[in-house]
Amino acid sequence: MWHAEMVPREETGPEHLPGAVGGVTRIAQTVRRPTGPWTPAVHELLTYLHDNGLRGIPALHGFDDEGREVLEHVEGRGVPIDREIVLDTVLVEAVTWLRDFHDLVDGFRPEGVRTWRGPGAVELGADQIICHHDPGAYNWIIQSGHFVAMIDWDMAGPGRPIDDLAFLAWTAIPLYRATPTSEVARRLDLLVEAYGEWGPMTVLEAVIARMTTASDRIEAGQARGDQGFLNLAKVGEPQRTRDRVAAFRLRLPEIDAAL
Ligand SMILES: Nc1ncnc2c1ncn2[C@@H]1O[C@H](COP(=O)(O)OP(=O)(O)O)[C@@H](O)[C@H]1O
Ligand SMILES: [Mg+2]
Repeated sequence: MWHAEMVPREETGPEHLPGAVGGVTRIAQTVRRPTGPWTPAVHELLTYLHDNGLRGIPALHGFDDEGREVLEHVEGRGVPIDREIVLDTVLVEAVTWLRDFHDLVDGFRPEGVRTWRGPGAVELGADQIICHHDPGAYNWIIQSGHFVAMIDWDMAGPGRPIDDLAFLAWTAIPLYRATPTSEVARRLDLLVEAYGEWGPMTVLEAVIARMTTASDRIEAGQARGDQGFLNLAKVGEPQRTRDRVAAFRLRLPEIDAAL
């Protein structure tokens, strides 16, 4: 049986891992992350996914003596989305993973209320699944040129599958900045094909809805004093996303014409 305490701290000193929200530390082959009221539901979800054979998620190792959650440190590298556009092959691998995750998580239907970070204590609606809700390329691990894992499950909670696909498209095509229209159309086709459910314009309409919701959630999180959301104010959120969505909306007709 694996215990977090079995990894000697002296082996590799704690290393701060910068993320959007912050507070993540690596110790040897583990990461230690802050917890919150959402943690039990997220752990129940990760355990279900692991037990049912989903690849590409960090193994869960419980809690350490400081009460932080302990997860497997997945070997590889992250994606600095402002400086890197992932290869077509990596985009397709990540979307294929998202489809596998959604197909599997459709069977995860906990009875009664669970507390999730976004909506708080809610029941899973009959027409909903548990989404990742933050499957941006900055939460992917790439190993030897391949997508190998989706990390950062704190935002998981009830939603519609297209919400995750839209969020992924926003950061990985990418749509949040001025990617040439021909590239947007080409990579959107790859994404649509790999997921195999909705056409390109349906996904783009969902992007506007999803990223508007993202801005609203950040604003609400800041208003209720959630430290993770407050940290996002340092990079100008939620106004930064609102401005980007407005700019993207203006490009829609041009992208539509290029499809
Ligand atoms: N399980 C993991 N395996 C490898 N690297 C990780 C893992 N979890 C986090 N990291 C690294 O730490 C960074 C921040 O962690 P993340 O869980 O994304 O937190 P944040 O909420 O701050 O974005 C990630 O961008 C990634 O580089
Ligand atoms: Mg992250």
